[in-house]
Amino acid sequence: MGGAGRVRRSTLGGSMPHLVVLSGAGISAESGIETFRAAEGLWANHPVEAVATPEGWRRDPERVLEFYAERRRQIRSARPNAAHRALAELEGAGFRVTILTQNIDDLHERAGSKDVMHLHGNVMNARSSVDPRLIYPLAEGEEISLGDLCDKGSQLRPHVVWFGEPVLLLDAARELTADADLLLVVGTSLNVMPVAGLIDEVAFHVPRLLVDPRAHEFAPQGVKALSRRAAEGVPLLVDHWRRTRRFTLPDTFAG
Ligand code: APR
Repeated sequence: MGGAGRVRRSTLGGSMPHLVVLSGAGISAESGIETFRAAEGLWANHPVEAVATPEGWRRDPERVLEFYAERRRQIRSARPNAAHRALAELEGAGFRVTILTQNIDDLHERAGSKDVMHLHGNVMNARSSVDPRLIYPLAEGEEISLGDLCDKGSQLRPHVVWFGEPVLLLDAARELTADADLLLVVGTSLNVMPVAGLIDEVAFHVPRLLVDPRAHEFAPQGVKALSRRAAEGVPLLVDHWRRTRRFTLPDTFAG
C-alpha cells in the first residue's frame, strides 16, 4: 500500500488524515436490515418498478408508502453494529471521517458519525412530490399517509432517490472523494451508478479498500479486496489505524 501511510495536507480539511467511506446496504446487514440484491434480498421479494420508481409512485402511492413504512419499522428496531461504531470512534480519535452512504437508514448517525452524506436519501424524512427541496423530518414513530401534504399542497413521499431520479449531493461527494487520503468501500455491490463511479474519483496514489464477504469476487482493478463481514473487518482496520495513526494495512490483511 505504497504512499498510504503519509499524512497529506488536504485542501478541504487541514492536516487530519482524511478517510472517505463509501457504504452500502451490507454495512447494515448485521443490524438486521436486508440488502437489495442478495438471493433473499429486497429486490427478490419486491418488484423494483412498483416501489422504487416515480412511475410506481404515480400508479400506486399507497403501496409505495407501505413499502417504506415497513423499511422504517425495520430501521427503528435496528441498532448500529460494530462497523458503524468503529467509524464513529475513528472520527473521535482525531481522524477526519466522511461517510458517503447509499443507505436510507440512519445507523451511521445513531452510531455517532457527524459527517454523513445520504446520496440516495434518508427514509426518516418525508419530502414534497413537487419540490425536492421541501424535506420534513419524521418524528419518532411517525409515518406518511395519503393526504399528508407539503407546503405546496402536494402529497408527501419518502425522501428516497428512486431509479431514474438524480442522486443527491453528487458533486460534493466527488470533491470529498478527490480529497481522501484513503477510500474505504464497505458493503456495496457497486452495481448502481453514478455512485459506484465515485471509486474512480480518488487521487491516483490513494489506496482503495473494499470490505465485503464477496470482495474477492467483484473488487475492481486496483481496489484491495478484504473478504470480511463489515462488523468484523471495519473494526480491525480502525483499531490498526488508531494505534499506528497511519493508513496502512494490518498484517491480517497484508498480502
Ligand atoms: N458485511 C459487508 N458486506 C455485506 C454483508 C456484511 N455483513 N452482507 C452482505 N454484504 C454485501 C453483499 O455481498 C453485497 O455486495 O453487501 C452488498 C450489498 O449489495 P446490494 O444489495 O446491491 O446493495 P447496495 O450496493 O447498497 O445497493 C446500491 O441500489 O437498490 C439500490 O438505491 C438502492 O442504495 C441502493 C443501491
